Amino acid sequence: MEAIANLNGEQMPLAEAKVSALDRGFLFGDAVYEVIRVYGGRAWLADQHFRRLARSLEAIRIGGIDLDRLRRRMDETIAAGPFREAIVYIQITRGSAPRSHPFPARAAPLEFLYVQEFRDPYAEARRDGAAVITMPDIRWGRCDVKSTNLLANVLAAQAAKEAGCVEALLVRPDGSVGEGTHTSLFGVRGGMVLTAPNSNAILPGITRGLVLGLAKRAGVPEREQVLRLDELGRVSELFLTGTTSEVLPVVRVDGRPVGDGRPGPVTRRMQEAYQEAVREFVAGTS
Ligand code: PDD
Repeated sequence: MEAIANLNGEQMPLAEAKVSALDRGFLFGDAVYEVIRVYGGRAWLADQHFRRLARSLEAIRIGGIDLDRLRRRMDETIAAGPFREAIVYIQITRGSAPRSHPFPARAAPLEFLYVQEFRDPYAEARRDGAAVITMPDIRWGRCDVKSTNLLANVLAAQAAKEAGCVEALLVRPDGSVGEGTHTSLFGVRGGMVLTAPNSNAILPGITRGLVLGLAKRAGVPEREQVLRLDELGRVSELFLTGTTSEVLPVVRVDGRPVGDGRPGPVTRRMQEAYQEAVREFVAGTS
């Protein structure tokens, strides 16, 4: 199934979508984005993703975006194909203008989205557990903004791939490990689920928020607490969460096993709770 795009309101095959070489997203990374999962033909956690998009737009001072209209375009684009299991990518840039660092006086923001069938690259790792590496977090100071400036994430993810791993955990200068290049990080210690509190150091992951809520609902104790690199050897379980990865057990960090080196019971419980929430969503009961 061919991916379908919507560029400033015009629907077209993704392969035909063209953007100006002077677009500030291309020249400066002056843009924000979202990735939304589609299950059973419907956008999952769409309210939360659009709230985060509004927050990102506000943080980088792109105004005048009609998010209700954008959401209607998204729903129409999903409905335009036989999409059941898919991904929506949305990107808003400050638009096209002669290259100059400050905001252009008159550029119209670019509103781009596409829907693409999702071929799950994580199925095996979700079942057997994933190996990860650690890398220095060399990103900017506003990691809470979902900006398209992803060079540091790209370099760390590539290092993970070259090491035969699925993700790189990013270690900040103070020794804290907030998240991966495209995933949120959770640990389990003494049966308690731990994840970093939201701050400028991490993206407020939508799946992270869902999983914290699911833990509460399942009666699994949870606490928002920073994980440190020197503590990773003492957690019994580690797992990642994200729109595409869902709940992904981590069984090795830098070649050392986590716990007994197999996905742990709390991680399995959170995977089941996630799947149950998706089943309810697809059945239309949530
Ligand atoms: N990435 N942390 C970072 C740095 C991310 O880029 C992402 C998502 C997450 C998880 O957030 P969420 O649960 O909202 O997907 C955490 C998307 C999937 C991407 O860049 O492809």
